[in-house]
Amino acid sequence: MPGITLEAITFSLFGALGDLALRKLFPALYQLDRAGLLHADTRILALSREPGEPSLHKARIEQALHNRIPAGELDERTLQRFAARLEYLTMDFRQGEGYAALAECVPAELPLIAYFATPASVYGDICRFLAATGLAEQARVVLEKPIGHDLESSRVINDAVAQYFPENRIYRIDHYLGKETVQNLIALRFANSLFETQWDQHHISHVEITVAETVGIEGRWGYFDQAGQLRDMVQNHLLQLLCLIAMDPPSNLTADSIRDEKVKVLKALAPLTPESIHQRVVRGQYAAGNVAGKAVPGYLEEENSNTESSTETFVALRADICNWRWSGVPFYLRTGKRMAQKLSQIVIHFKEPPFYIFAPEQRSLISNRLIIRLQPDEGISLQVMTKEQGLDKGMHLRSGPLQLNFSETYKSARIPDAYERLLLEVMQGNQNLFVRRDEIEYAWQWCDQLIDGWTRLGAELKLYPAGSWGPVASIALITRDGRSWYGDL
Ligand code: BG6
Repeated sequence: MPGITLEAITFSLFGALGDLALRKLFPALYQLDRAGLLHADTRILALSREPGEPSLHKARIEQALHNRIPAGELDERTLQRFAARLEYLTMDFRQGEGYAALAECVPAELPLIAYFATPASVYGDICRFLAATGLAEQARVVLEKPIGHDLESSRVINDAVAQYFPENRIYRIDHYLGKETVQNLIALRFANSLFETQWDQHHISHVEITVAETVGIEGRWGYFDQAGQLRDMVQNHLLQLLCLIAMDPPSNLTADSIRDEKVKVLKALAPLTPESIHQRVVRGQYAAGNVAGKAVPGYLEEENSNTESSTETFVALRADICNWRWSGVPFYLRTGKRMAQKLSQIVIHFKEPPFYIFAPEQRSLISNRLIIRLQPDEGISLQVMTKEQGLDKGMHLRSGPLQLNFSETYKSARIPDAYERLLLEVMQGNQNLFVRRDEIEYAWQWCDQLIDGWTRLGAELKLYPAGSWGPVASIALITRDGRSWYGDL
């Protein structure tokens, strides 16, 4: 990658044999190594509680690389270089002893990155021991979500970390911020005056944010059933997307300027009352159904499930932002597991022209939409109205896309995984793509109103068949306002 030279660092990964580390973090580190971005003296310390022969654990990590990385991107030289950087250490993160051994592997002159891919309840202990062994001085800490399950518990965790680390050395992950198209939102909005002048309640009628997944719980029942879709997806990924769409232009690209603007959006979210929750929020849970032609079980029939669970696997809601820019513009958010299609997209619906001069029967066609596709097929498309071609067509209108498909337009460019980008940013000491403490807390504060409301209202759970677009009530939620979810088949 031209223009980037990284200094040598020690990268320590707590929870190195967990699902996230094996599926995402080691493959991302491998890709950075393959791109020539890791300094020759950079070392990777894989830390886990699991005892046993280090070489066997290293072999497991190498096997994970083979499982996750496309064959064409696996090359022997990088694999060998990567293996030579990697060391495995068994340690109990809650006990002081292992940290002395860790300190011996960390050169005092190099920055240390401590990535916590562990339950958040352990973060405080790890920080305390890093401080006790003198390692905290040279360390940046990376915290995985979820940070808490409500405002209060997130404060406890953030306080525990803040006792040993200043905010400018804390990197809170929301991996959506590492996605290429999500970063492109900033470029799209603030490098194109075309959009920015149209970006408000005078020109936009409403905004949709959909993050639909086809996967179910994938063996994560224990975690997911405690969390549910609101805490797992809305509190973080969906609210971050909403902030990037709704925020005012920052005065520069520094982490704090961007984060200050995002916080203003979170503070302006309309409070949720029991009445608005009843009318504007839908909670769902998938029942058995078909995804991509394959029969799949319902949530309550998943492996290790509690058959009484009323945890939601789907949320749709209408959020309103109380400020000059967005007054009267609803933001419809929805996210669910086991839906019809894996699709993350944002649709900005522009208002109709102020005066209509075409044939009345064509009026319903008129609508400019900006569709920002985050995954799959990353790209941007602007639906514009044109005239149908042909002598016989008169002034018949049609809607067609002005389209930018990233993989087609930039054929040679590989789209990096979000974690590659995020790890690179931590290594460079850039906090732009990480979430500041107050962002997390305002997001919890808003979601807590929802959680409290559900508890008080005994929130009804609507079932939806796996492989669908969610409960019928989520369609009613938007049609009640005279609109529909864009593109649902
Ligand atoms: C994670 C959630 O943060 O994001 C998962 O915990 C979810 O439940 C995942 O499946 C979705 O990420 P992506 O990148 O596949 O859209």
